Amino acid sequence: MAKVKWGVLGAGGIARRRTIPGLINARNAELVAVMDTAEELAREVKAEFGARRAYTATEALLADPEVEAVYIASPVAFHKQQALACAAGGKHVLIEKPIAMTAREGEEVIKACDDAGIIAAAGFMMRFHTYHRQLREIIAAGRLGRIVSCRAQLTCWYPEIPGAWRQKTATSGGGAMMDMGIHCIDLIQYITGTKAVRVSGMTDTLAFGYEVEDAATLLLRLDNGAVASVDAYFCIPDAAARGRLEIYGTRGSALCEGTIGQVESGTADVLLGDDTLGYDAKQDRVDVTPVKLLSDFGNMYTSQIEAFGRSILEGAPVAVPLADALRAQRIVEACYESAKTRGTVDL
Ligand SMILES: NC(=O)c1ccc[n+]([C@@H]2O[C@H](COP(=O)([O-])OP(=O)(O)OC[C@H]3O[C@@H](n4cnc5c(N)ncnc54)[C@H](O)[C@@H]3O)[C@@H](O)[C@H]2O)c1
Repeated sequence: MAKVKWGVLGAGGIARRRTIPGLINARNAELVAVMDTAEELAREVKAEFGARRAYTATEALLADPEVEAVYIASPVAFHKQQALACAAGGKHVLIEKPIAMTAREGEEVIKACDDAGIIAAAGFMMRFHTYHRQLREIIAAGRLGRIVSCRAQLTCWYPEIPGAWRQKTATSGGGAMMDMGIHCIDLIQYITGTKAVRVSGMTDTLAFGYEVEDAATLLLRLDNGAVASVDAYFCIPDAAARGRLEIYGTRGSALCEGTIGQVESGTADVLLGDDTLGYDAKQDRVDVTPVKLLSDFGNMYTSQIEAFGRSILEGAPVAVPLADALRAQRIVEACYESAKTRGTVDL
């Protein structure tokens, strides 16, 4: 099978932990080169995964003639300049979320990629979770009826770490909502096939002393009339995380636990009701057998790399267009504006 030859910018964090291991197992991918500003780390990652070359400069990786596609997993402050360099160098690019520091910068990234005619996508790998994909199909087929309410939640324990780029607005663009809630926002729109049109948010720093928010909740008005909420918290212990996704419609509901996260696992219950029945004053819970979803778990990071490879090799539609990442980032920015002004923000 034809393989896309990959280079990685920012090899030490999520790239080393999840995406490169996922890439190594992808049928249509080959790791050629890694780059990290930390030289020793770049060498270690090269050796760990059998890459051919390790670099410490973006330009050096982009000058590598073997590299066809680049995965950007550096801190967010570097995404824009590295994405523009990929576009200028004619390399296809998969950019971790958020794709740039601001939505305004994200627009520049999209324009540069479009002008260069390269394939570009964002790293919302949770779209590839088998339960999320099956739910999207169930909802598109109308089996939950009209969607009226959703909730998605991603939390972790993230105490103060001296020098951490995520904990300063100037290097992260935002806290829990920008870093984690953005996945939930994307998932809600992706799974339900809707777009948010209005945002109301509250952000706080409840547990820790850093600059960005460690607690954020937002409400979205979706374009089908439903309301969705997203919880993003840096201050809930990992052992207590639920990672819930809830979707309610006029014919049924779906409840996932543990599907929003880095490992493709968790549970999903889909309950279907009968929307032709009249009002039952007793509101008895009828025993219904949950619809069983196929638990054919894979690795979301492998699926993400394979899907991107199919776009390059076979012309398949891009699974996570940058425009969707830009939309999610605009929603996060609207959440911050709403939190500041205590008003709602129309998109
Ligand atoms: N999709 C996911 O599951 C997921 C999970 C975590 C992080 N992320 C995203 O991945 C990106 C990186 O986050 P992280 O948690 O891996 O961060 P990190 O700080 O753990 O790792 C970043 C790596 O980039 C290196 N680096 C620093 N400056 C660089 C530069 N100018 N060029 C290249 N490399 C540089 C660092 O040495 C480090 O090895 C962020 O956009 C983040 O939101 C995605």
